[in-house]
Amino acid sequence: MNIDFSNPRKLALNNALLITALFLVLGMLHTFLFPAASGWWLIAGGGLVLFVFTNFLFRYTLEKFIYEKIRLIYKTIRNRKISKDNDKTSSYKGKTIETVYQEVAEWGETKSKEVEELKRMAKYRREFLGNVSHELKTPIFNIQGYVLTLLDGGLEDPSINKEYLLRTEKSINRMIAIVEDLETISQLESSELQLNLKKTDILALTREVMEFLEIKARKRNNNIYFGGNYEKPVYILADKERLRQVLINLIDNSIKYGNQENGSTKISFFDMDENILVEVTDNGNGINEADLPRIFERFYRTDKGRSREQGGSGLGLAIVKHIIEAHDQTIHVRSTQGVGTTFAFTMKKA
Ligand SMILES: Nc1ncnc2c1ncn2[C@@H]1O[C@H](COP(=O)(O)OP(=O)(O)O)[C@@H](O)[C@H]1O
Ligand SMILES: [Mg+2]
Repeated sequence: MNIDFSNPRKLALNNALLITALFLVLGMLHTFLFPAASGWWLIAGGGLVLFVFTNFLFRYTLEKFIYEKIRLIYKTIRNRKISKDNDKTSSYKGKTIETVYQEVAEWGETKSKEVEELKRMAKYRREFLGNVSHELKTPIFNIQGYVLTLLDGGLEDPSINKEYLLRTEKSINRMIAIVEDLETISQLESSELQLNLKKTDILALTREVMEFLEIKARKRNNNIYFGGNYEKPVYILADKERLRQVLINLIDNSIKYGNQENGSTKISFFDMDENILVEVTDNGNGINEADLPRIFERFYRTDKGRSREQGGSGLGLAIVKHIIEAHDQTIHVRSTQGVGTTFAFTMKKA
């Protein structure tokens, strides 16, 4: 016999039937062995009473002591789910224990995923804080060193006093750059960022950025040029100031980490139906294959010492990626050792 355990009513009914059947069999046996006129009626009546009574008793105890408890557990979970999902249609009524079990299991699964996510976030926060303090420590200690030297008599020494003040200023600028990048990244990651999408001429914007970085490029023997004869405006849909940040960082990286003797930075635009593909290519040493997939991570640097010395926060490419993705576009990097690196991203045409 297949006993249905999923519902207390069915279970009670099953049990009552079993007991009644047992009573009937015993009763029949007894009447058979010791026949009496009223025997069969007694058995039938007793069986009926026994069935009704045991059915009621089982149902009552099961519902009262077991099912009620499960319901309490279910309700607690359900209420939490409802308050979260805003799903008020569901109720416990008429549900089998299987369904309840399934829902509780699902609930457990969701909860453990949530816990995992929270743990991941906590780890991220810990690492982020560690990275931030590490980044800020270097310029702060530098400033402390310069100031102490100046206080220790350096102020009167014309061979170092101005130099140390200039170095102090450089370290302060570095701190400002780090803090600004931190502000940008936290804005981008808390999705507070509201893009101000407008029809923008990326050609004109790139020219502005090239002019802005011209002096720095010249100092480093880097030549920034276009990869084609672009004359007509190239219109895209973008947040102009955010896109400026993207271009500045990519071109600035090419100047800082590209070829230091005879550097070049080529900027090209390609028409791709709905999008414009923008490429920034340098002729530097390139990036190791092992570093390539990690290059967009926050604080990730291929050459730690050199990058810090160049004044970078290591956040630039993470910011770039966020901005491009906020535009629903993508960015890729390819690099060949000894030949150079190309960063390529798309922007929607306007
Ligand atoms: N064009 C490039 N050529 C070689 N390495 C690069 C280039 N661009 C970026 N990198 C590497 O990627 C790292 C991350 O870049 P980025 O996030 O812009 O940080 P930052 O410029 O603040 O150092 C850099 O520190 C550098 O090691
Ligand atoms: Mg950078």
